[in-house]
Amino acid sequence: MPKQTYSDPTFSQRLLSWYDLHGRHNLPWQRDKTPYRVWVSEIMLQQTQVTTVIPYYQRFMARFPQVSDLATASEDDVFHLWSGLGYYSRARNLHKAAKLVVNEHDGTFPRSIAGLMELPGIGRSTAGAIAAISMGIRAPIMDGNVKRILTRYFAIHGWPGLTAVANELWKIAEQLTPHDRVDDYTQVMMDLGATLCKRSKPACDACPLNTGCIARKTGQQQRFPESRPKQVKPERSTVMLMVVNQFGEVLLEKRPPTGIWGGLWSFPELSDPDQISTEALAKTGLTIDGCELWQSFRHTFSHYHLDITPALTFVDSHQQTLLVKEHDDFCWIALNQSHQLGLAAPIKKLLEKINLAF
Ligand code: ADE
Repeated sequence: MPKQTYSDPTFSQRLLSWYDLHGRHNLPWQRDKTPYRVWVSEIMLQQTQVTTVIPYYQRFMARFPQVSDLATASEDDVFHLWSGLGYYSRARNLHKAAKLVVNEHDGTFPRSIAGLMELPGIGRSTAGAIAAISMGIRAPIMDGNVKRILTRYFAIHGWPGLTAVANELWKIAEQLTPHDRVDDYTQVMMDLGATLCKRSKPACDACPLNTGCIARKTGQQQRFPESRPKQVKPERSTVMLMVVNQFGEVLLEKRPPTGIWGGLWSFPELSDPDQISTEALAKTGLTIDGCELWQSFRHTFSHYHLDITPALTFVDSHQQTLLVKEHDDFCWIALNQSHQLGLAAPIKKLLEKINLAF
């Protein structure tokens, strides 16, 4: 059987004509499209919507206008500007990659997909976006928008997380990517996916690809892309110990570098709400004399649910406060200054609640 090919020059032409009239042309990262600026935008946009990213991007660029500014910043400084965007490994990788670009590439980004993919946090799709948008290199991308457009247009079955389906999609994307205006083509795939070819209620009547789209022809837009076979997320629970001392400071612990919220400051965690004094003494050296348990709440990560029980307690002996002060992984931070640290969203919320209680 001959191999199916997907080359169709009108595909990109229709998209580019639509882009000229209806695409987004004024996003902050579309001005002065250097590899550095495009890279930061692509990393921020990986799991976050454009409207949320814009103010973070502007603050980030004002603070770190060049890759060398980012490379020489402290990790806490980077996390602070990232605080609230989530998926903090992105910030850690961004910082590491900036140092590599400065120290091993003379401050210039590699000009190949393979070279870009050697930098931490850059996968094939992000490398493609950086190369196409900031260097004009013909390279495909494969984000959620592109998967939606291609699976619908060609009626590609199977969950795109499966290697065989992903390989097929990459092959199609490679064939369709034009030689000219690859920067605009990359942007229009994302724009079309975000504005017309949306997950629910796609605006097919306005779509420049509507005449060839198989999903539309067969009324199966909702079927594509096919979803991942259902998996149940495991449930875990934790107690977050919120100790406040006589100076109005709260005790935080630096999380291990890998795993959730890796390297971020958080509350010391205990496992059993009925054994708080014993566990707190073992972990922090502090003697806890009673505490107030707050209502538990659920925080959901991509792969599990975490039920958090906050436990508020006070220590008023200077002696006790000194015990944990010597430890690198613990710090006492003034409640009204905690916003200066990079903190995960639930921790930030709890600190605000403690602040209100005073
Ligand atoms: N999502 C990922 N990259 C994007 C970009 N350059 N513009 C809009 N949305 C995006």
